[in-house]
Amino acid sequence: MGILLKNGEIVTASDRFVGDIYCDEGKILAIGQGLEKQHRDDEEIDASGQFIFPGGIDAHVHMELPFMGTVSADNFETGTAAGVAGGTTSILDFVIPGRGQSLLEGLDQWHEKAAKAVSDYGFHMAVTWYGDDTEREMRICALDKGIQSFKTFMAYKGAIGVDDAELIEVMKTAKDLQALVTAHCEHGDMVLALQKQYVEQGLTDPKYHALSRPAPVEGEATNRAITLARMTGTPLYIVHLTCKEALDAVTEARLRGQMVLAETCSQYLLLDDSVYEKENFEGAAYVMSPPIRPKGHQEALWAGISAGLIQVVATDHCPFNQVGQKDMGKDDFTKIPNGAAGIEHRLGLLWTYGVLEGRMDIHRFVDVFATQPAKTFGLYPRKGSIVTGADADLVVFDPTVESTISAATHHHNCDRNIFEGFKLKGGASHVIVNGKVQFKDGKLDVERGAGRYLPRSRNVHY
Ligand code: URP
Ligand code: ZN
Ligand code: ZN
Repeated sequence: MGILLKNGEIVTASDRFVGDIYCDEGKILAIGQGLEKQHRDDEEIDASGQFIFPGGIDAHVHMELPFMGTVSADNFETGTAAGVAGGTTSILDFVIPGRGQSLLEGLDQWHEKAAKAVSDYGFHMAVTWYGDDTEREMRICALDKGIQSFKTFMAYKGAIGVDDAELIEVMKTAKDLQALVTAHCEHGDMVLALQKQYVEQGLTDPKYHALSRPAPVEGEATNRAITLARMTGTPLYIVHLTCKEALDAVTEARLRGQMVLAETCSQYLLLDDSVYEKENFEGAAYVMSPPIRPKGHQEALWAGISAGLIQVVATDHCPFNQVGQKDMGKDDFTKIPNGAAGIEHRLGLLWTYGVLEGRMDIHRFVDVFATQPAKTFGLYPRKGSIVTGADADLVVFDPTVESTISAATHHHNCDRNIFEGFKLKGGASHVIVNGKVQFKDGKLDVERGAGRYLPRSRNVHY
C-alpha cells in the first residue's frame, strides 16, 4: 500500500514549494503537483496548511548503554519509538567496547541489541583503547561493516577515555581509511583533579559536577583535538559542543581551512547552569558531560549554527531515571550516571526556539535536523532529503498545534524530562518511516524490529 501526501509545503535544506509526494515500497517515488493514487488501497493524507520535512536523523544517541554502573534506560525499541514520535526516523548510536575488548565483538553486541529498533539505525565505533589489533579492526569496520566514523572520548579517564598517544593512533588510522574521527572533548585529567578536590572538601551535590567540568576544560581539549587532527591530516567532528571556548577553536580551524565539523545538542542551546541549583537532588537529572553551561554560551551556539560553524544538532540521548539510577550519586556527584533524554523533542524545540524566534531560517533548521547529519555520516541522499528514490522518511508538521513537554506524557523511558514545562508550537501530525505511517495524531504505531541497519558510505559529503 502506497501513501499519497497532498498539497503540503515541502521544505528541504534548499527548496520550498507546495506539492504532493507519492511513496511506495518504502521509497519516495514521485514529487510534483496533481499526483494521484496508484492503487485503490493507497492511503491519502491531506497535508494542506502543513509542512513536509525529511525525517530527522539524530546523529548522537546511546540506547541501552552500559555506563557508570548502570544501563541507559531507553532500549533500541523504546528509544527509536520516542524518536519517531518526535519526527526522528533514523539514529546513529555508538558501539562502545570496553577497554581491552575487541571492536568487532562490541559491534556484534550492538547489532544484537539494535535488532529491536522500530526505525533505521547506524553505528559509530568508539575506540576506547589502542592495541595491536585495533588498526585491523578499524579497517574491517570501515571497509566491510559500513562504519565510517570512529569516536574517541578525551574524558572518562580510566574508563572509556583514551590518552593523546591513543588518539593520535586513531587519527592516523582513520586518515588512512578516509574515515571521520569524532571526539568528546574534555580534559580528562583536569576533570579528575577537580572532582577529587570537591569530593575531599565534602562538596558532593550535583552542581559540583558542572563546576568540575568548566568551559576551559572543554575548550582546551577541543583545541588539542583540532591540533592533533591538523597534524595528522584527519577530518574531525566535535560531538556535543557546549561553549564559546570550544566554538572559538572550531571557528579558528575552519577559517584556516581545516576540516572541522561540530555538533551541539538541544539542551546546550536551551538550558543554563541554574538547573543545578534545583533542590531535592533534582539537579541530578541534568548531570551530563559536558555539563549545561552558564548563561551566555547558549546564544553563542545559536549564532554558531546560523553562521554555519555548527552543522548538526543532535541530542546525546542517554536517559537515566532519577529513582534507581541518578540516585546512585546521592552522596557523591561523581557517581551520578551522566546523561539525559532528548530524542523526542529535538524537532519541536528547534522549531519553536530556533525558527520561530528568528535564530535560524527554515532551511537551516532542516539542514541541522536531517540533511547535514545524513551528509556528514554517509547516508545522503538516501536519508535527509526529499528526492525520488530516497527512503520514504517524512514528517508532516502542523505549525498550529501547541503542547507542553512533560515526563508525564513523553515517550522516553525515563522519569524526568530536562525540558519539563517547555512550551512547543508546532508538532508532527504524521511521521512516515520507511513508507509506513508510524505516528499519527499523537499515537505511535510502530513495529519492534522493523528498523534496518544502515551501512554507511565512505563517500561522505562534508
Ligand atoms: O553525559 C553524557 N554525555 N553521557 C553519554 C556519554 C557521552 O559522553 O556522550
Ligand atoms: Zn560524550
Ligand atoms: Zn554521547
